Amino acid sequence: MRAIYPGSFDPVTNGHIDIIKRASMLSDELYVAVLTNSDKSQTFSVEERLRFLESVTNEFPNVKIVFFDGLLIDYAKKINADVIIRGLRAVSDYEYELQMAIANKKLCQEIETLFMVSDSKWSFLSSSLVKEIAMFGGDLHGMLPDFIINEVEAKVRRR
Ligand code: PNS
Repeated sequence: MRAIYPGSFDPVTNGHIDIIKRASMLSDELYVAVLTNSDKSQTFSVEERLRFLESVTNEFPNVKIVFFDGLLIDYAKKINADVIIRGLRAVSDYEYELQMAIANKKLCQEIETLFMVSDSKWSFLSSSLVKEIAMFGGDLHGMLPDFIINEVEAKVRRR
């Protein structure tokens, strides 16, 4: 099975890494795809987000990091993906995820969306929360890999 795990990853958190690890065990090939979410303004450049993802996934041999500037479903079709993986942290995620899954299904019947339940350890965690904590000088240890913490702090301080 070829799976695609799309997101903004702005930046990748320990919650994303947990999903990548678990999804990579379920699939033969897992494409982690950085895409644009037009509802959000991005803090990190595509290059930075790809670099973070490359570093945290180099221990998973069947994981490939990619960027696509367009519709998720077009990229999923292009690589012949069987499934789209999305993580669900809480019921509040569901409404948006359901809408996206149905829209993607309308655009391509053959590709299924599979939801993975986030580990409760990470259910509070999001990239936006991490950036807000950093902005006010809070401790990010345990939320992101250490080398990303330094870069998030440096970036948020500069803004
Ligand atoms: O990590 P996010 O921000 O929740 O990820 C959302 C993302 C990037 C997967 C979504 O916005 C997306 O698929 N963007 C690409 C454009 C697209 O296909 N939009 C959805 C149409 S149903």
